[in-house]
Order: sequence, then structure tokens, then C-alpha cells
Amino acid sequence: MVRIAVAGGSGPVSREVIDALMSSGKHDITILSRSAQKSDIAPEITWQVVDYNDKPNLIRALRGIHTLLSFVQILSDPDQESQKNLIDAAIISGVKRFAPSEYGSKGTVDMHWWHGKEKVRRYLEEVNGNERVLEYTLFQPGLFLDYLAFPYKTAKYLDPLQSIFDFQNCRAIVMEGHEGAIITLTTVADLAAVIARAVDYDGRWPTTGGIRGNRVTFSQILEIGRSFVVDQVKLEDLEAGKLKASWGLEAIHPAVPVDQASELLKAVSIGILLSSSKGAWDSSDEMNQLFPDHDFTRIDDFLEKAWEGMP
Ligand SMILES: NC(=O)c1ccc[n+]([C@@H]2O[C@H](COP(=O)([O-])OP(=O)(O)OC[C@H]3O[C@@H](n4cnc5c(N)ncnc54)[C@H](OP(=O)(O)O)[C@@H]3O)[C@@H](O)[C@H]2O)c1
Repeated sequence: MVRIAVAGGSGPVSREVIDALMSSGKHDITILSRSAQKSDIAPEITWQVVDYNDKPNLIRALRGIHTLLSFVQILSDPDQESQKNLIDAAIISGVKRFAPSEYGSKGTVDMHWWHGKEKVRRYLEEVNGNERVLEYTLFQPGLFLDYLAFPYKTAKYLDPLQSIFDFQNCRAIVMEGHEGAIITLTTVADLAAVIARAVDYDGRWPTTGGIRGNRVTFSQILEIGRSFVVDQVKLEDLEAGKLKASWGLEAIHPAVPVDQASELLKAVSIGILLSSSKGAWDSSDEMNQLFPDHDFTRIDDFLEKAWEGMP
């Protein structure tokens, strides 16, 4: 039995992970939240209200916790004060293992909305500079494969999100000359299952926890199942902040304020195209190596099931 605290445990990604952790029935789970308890939380989970600006409060909440998983939102906290305070409190409370709010790409180049992840990476390196005071791993599964089923929901909590691969309308945006760029795609269910295995794992966590559900090129994605109309955009336009495509993303993540939505959607498309051409989405495979028997959902099987009988 491991005592686990889940910071930001009310969000959709963490809820998927909490269900996977619960399925073994052997862990004691506490959700750390800034708000009052949500009604649909299982009775065996403890809900602890915390103030991320109050370190003594966090230290008390983390006493006796073995593993701390953070899913704290990156966007609303530009300097990542919540996660930095959480890390300080974890060290003082004697938490053994920590996972920051990563769960995305290996690199964050050209993706300003995820630069907060870099700040936390640097902070973790800094606090462990002289001696290792906190074991941690950066779980990096790439983009959720579930998003290729947009607008359909393929997970219990994770909402659909539109991407530059629009299977419903058979259209996609790629960067001219970079069709071979690599992208890692992993279902949120596989991410959750791997995190649950990592929590049970007795050895030391590798600092980078790359998870390769599927490692594919842009061209390979566009060869699966459907005939796509592909908009080719140019590197120099993207670098100038221009997305010269016949369509653009419209559906926004609930964390984004409405007045910033259209700029961010354009930035997300540009950022994913530029960053993937620089290798940012080519996750490493440390977690695949630790759990070689984990059977990842394959992209072709996922898409066949998601789009079978759909228009
Ligand atoms: N790879 C992918 O495709 C992908 C997709 C989506 C998300 N992700 C990553 O997964 C992680 C979780 O994403 P999510 O969408 O589930 O998260 P989210 O719903 O945006 O946020 C999670 C929780 O963070 C807490 N929170 C918000 N602002 C905070 C602040 N300033 N300080 C402390 N806590 C705060 C909230 O909990 P309370 O109000 O209860 O405190 C919220 O429920 C993020 O790192 C995200 O980047 C990856």
C-alpha cells in the first residue's frame, strides 16, 4: 500500500489516473484541491482542501505521503508558484517520489503555453543540485491519441480536443517538407495504466519518464483509414506567426479564457507544427523499457474503432 497525494486531482487527466490507481484497491489516495469536494468522488478517496500559497498548510497535507502526483494547471500560474511550493513542502514532509504536471511532450520549444513545465523542470534540477532530495520523473506520453477521435469522447473524463489532424472532415495541416516529423501518441488510458505501474515499481524512477504509445510520422497518420485533404504550410510563415491554411482550430480547452481563445488556437497549431519538426514530440521510452509487457493501444486499432460507422 502506498499513500498517494494527487495535486490538482479534480481535473480530467488526474481523474483518469486516479481510477487506474484505485483499480488495484491497494492505495490510499488523497486529492489536494483549492476548492470544496466534488460530488462524484469515490468515498474511499480523501479530499483535502489546500492553499498552494501557504507552505505550512501544504507541509501538513503532505505528512506521511509517499508519492505525490501533480496535475496542477500550468496556464493559470505563469511562474509555477503552486508547483514550486508543492515541491518545497514535499521535500520538508519527506515525500519519497514526485511527478510534476507534465504528461505531454518531451520538448516545449515554440509552445509558450507549456513553458511553465520548463520552469518546474529547472526547479527540480535546482533543488536536487547538490544531493538528490526528491526522486521524480517527468511522465511524457506525447499527445493524447484520444484527440484523433474529436469530436467523440473516448475516455471517461478527458474531453475531446480538436487537433491539426481532423479525421471527421478528412483534413489536416502539415508543414511543407516536414511530413516525416515524429509525433508520439498515447491514449490517456495507457498513460494512466503506466503511471499506476510506476507507482507500484520498487526501483528508482528515471528522471525522464518517456512513454511511447505510438511513435509515428505525420505522413503515417494521414495514411490510416481516410483520404485527407492536406494543407501544406510553410516554415517561414509559421515562424512569422502566420497560419496560411484553409481552416483552423475552433474548439478550446476549458482552461483558456474566451478572449484569448482564437490567438491561442492559432498558436497551438503553429506551435505543434514547428515543435514537432524540431523533435519535441518524439518521446523517449523509459517507461516502455520498465514495463515491456504493457500492451499499448495501437494507433490503427484505435482509429478503426473510433471511426467505425462514423461519418
Ligand atoms: N498530452 C496531452 O495531450 C495533454 C492534454 C491535456 C492535458 N495535458 C496535461 O495534463 C495535465 C493536467 O491537465 P488537465 O487538463 O487535467 O488539468 P486542468 O483541468 O486544467 O487543471 C487541473 C487542476 O489544477 C488545479 N489548478 C488550477 N489552477 C491552479 C493553480 N493556479 N494552482 C494550483 N492548482 C490549480 C485545479 O484543481 P482545484 O481547483 O481542485 O484546485 C484543476 O482542476 C497538465 O500538465 C496538462 O498540460 C496533456
